[in-house]
Amino acid sequence: MIISVTSLKGGVGKSTVSTNIAVCFAHMGYKVAIVDTDTNMSSVHWSGLRGDERPSVAVFGITDSAALRKNVKRLEEDYDVVVIDGKPTISKLVSTILLLGDIVIIPLKPSGLDIWATEQFLEKYEQAKTLKDVKAYFLLNEYDENLTLCRESKDALKDFEIPVLKTTLKTRVAYKEAIVLGDGVFEYTDYKAKKEMRNLTKELLDLSQAETQ
Ligand SMILES: Nc1ncnc2c1ncn2[C@@H]1O[C@H](COP(=O)(O)OP(=O)(O)OP(=O)(O)O)[C@@H](O)[C@H]1O
Ligand SMILES: [Mg+2]
Repeated sequence: MIISVTSLKGGVGKSTVSTNIAVCFAHMGYKVAIVDTDTNMSSVHWSGLRGDERPSVAVFGITDSAALRKNVKRLEEDYDVVVIDGKPTISKLVSTILLLGDIVIIPLKPSGLDIWATEQFLEKYEQAKTLKDVKAYFLLNEYDENLTLCRESKDALKDFEIPVLKTTLKTRVAYKEAIVLGDGVFEYTDYKAKKEMRNLTKELLDLSQAETQ
């Protein structure tokens, strides 16, 4: 299974989500790889910090669109789950990432700026849709149901044809602390963060199983 995590906007949580779902899948016994497509190499750096005693997550840095297409297909033969950590750009790379994913996750933070960037992103999505039935889902990150702004942002997404994942992620220090240790929140002390990440991973598995039935 290939899971693409992408957006046109920077800082929405792509690398946070990529590393954390990869860790959950690894703990569930899956053989997991991340392909980091961003020149900031967040996931690559994370992997350098990851303890050898942890379930392994192989991380590869590939920033070229054609190389990505070829190598992800090769990796898919060797790994159960390949997570593509996207780069915020309007280049061809985004189209390739959209087309490679069996499931595409588009994280966004509840703010007008992120929603506006989404409108631009949809042009890429529509183009990709003409070539393949892209299964894309919004993921609300740093989301708090108690805040009006968050609920309004969620409502605004109803205007788009892309569904919103049931699982949302709250703002939690655990995400910032775990990543610099080479960990996922699944391996960390904040049980609420652990639970929401496990829920996200399960939701993705359910979606992928529904796809193949
Ligand atoms: N749920 C969360 N709670 C707290 N902090 C978060 C959460 N999600 C992301 N962050 C923080 O937001 C910042 C951006 O996250 P991240 O690097 O994952 O985004 P990105 O989309 O990969 O960014 P870029 O486009 O620059 O690669 C980081 O400092 C990260 O720790
Ligand atoms: Mg990133």
